[in-house]
Amino acid sequence: MAISSTLKHVLPISVFERLKRIANGGVALYSMTLAQAHQYNKAYAKFDSTGQRQIAARMTFFTHQIEKGLSHTNFRYGFGHKPLQYLKQAMEKYQRADANYRTAAVYQSALAALHEYAVKHEGHEKEFAFAKALFPESIWAEAAQAPKALGGSVLITAESKARNNELTFSELSRHRHSIREYSDLPVSYEEIKPAIELAMRTPSVCNRQPSRVKVICDSSEIAEALRIQGGFGGYATPPALILITSDNRVFMTPQEHNEGFVDGGLFGMSLLLALEEQGLAACPLNTMFRPKAEKATRRLLGIPEYESFVMYIAVGHFPETVRTCRSNRLSDDEVTSVIA
Ligand SMILES: Cc1cc2nc3c(=O)[nH]c(=O)nc-3n(C[C@H](O)[C@H](O)[C@H](O)COP(=O)(O)O)c2cc1C
Repeated sequence: MAISSTLKHVLPISVFERLKRIANGGVALYSMTLAQAHQYNKAYAKFDSTGQRQIAARMTFFTHQIEKGLSHTNFRYGFGHKPLQYLKQAMEKYQRADANYRTAAVYQSALAALHEYAVKHEGHEKEFAFAKALFPESIWAEAAQAPKALGGSVLITAESKARNNELTFSELSRHRHSIREYSDLPVSYEEIKPAIELAMRTPSVCNRQPSRVKVICDSSEIAEALRIQGGFGGYATPPALILITSDNRVFMTPQEHNEGFVDGGLFGMSLLLALEEQGLAACPLNTMFRPKAEKATRRLLGIPEYESFVMYIAVGHFPETVRTCRSNRLSDDEVTSVIA
């Protein structure tokens, strides 16, 4: 026993073990990360991608931009010249990429958003002139025929949210929408706390619970965090902002390096539904930072490097009425393949 344990510590074995550990540890982590970057780089929807899925994604992105503009309480006539141009480009590419483009939900959503854009501009011909000239008449005619429910904005009332805590899971899920404009009422940590407590029921890998929650109630910190984030421009500062991070110290192997995003994403969804159940309005916001923005955010909010950013959630009270994006969904059949 004494001899074998001594042997374990003599050079050849310990060097071998050490090398094995390095290969299975740091080297594996960096090579997996590189392989992942390679796969992602081949797949993602670049400006000049020709794949149908990529074109559809870009079309959805620009439809979403239009839906955001349509939802604004302070509606700006003639908004969106850039997204309209990109949307046009994506729609034309999509027409070539999908023989059945006319019936595709993503295309119909784009048309429905365009139709609402046209309707909103009735009586504002001057501001509508750019969009009108951009798309051919045939598109405006098709847009007028697109089912309204597939795109554009949707009206939400505070009254309809008053009894959210009596809804079934199915009703709550179907009626939740991202809300980006809130009433003037402040939101306290105490109001958010029960939702966080409920979200703690979220499953995580081996129950290691990497998700960490920061509740930011200071208005100037929220404003600065969102200025750096960049995806909430044009909206008033929300009363509260939640940041979900993942504590990487709970993970044990290189292959777990993305797990914090999975567990954190699940946690975020639980939290969104829990907030909705409590009658609070919320909007998830990305934390997809470039290095400079990441560094600035870490400094601003005191986030240590062992925590990865998962997402923000803006929180407020529902105003009496508010519009938001319809954000139509693909059908379950479009995303499901049954592997028999
Ligand atoms: C991880 C994540 C990041 C998001 N980032 C933003 C964002 O930066 N700005 C924004 O206005 N909405 C953001 N959203 C909200 C989406 O636009 C919204 O969830 C989507 O359109 C679906 O609409 P719904 O939440 O109303 O169902 C984000 C959503 C998620 C899940």
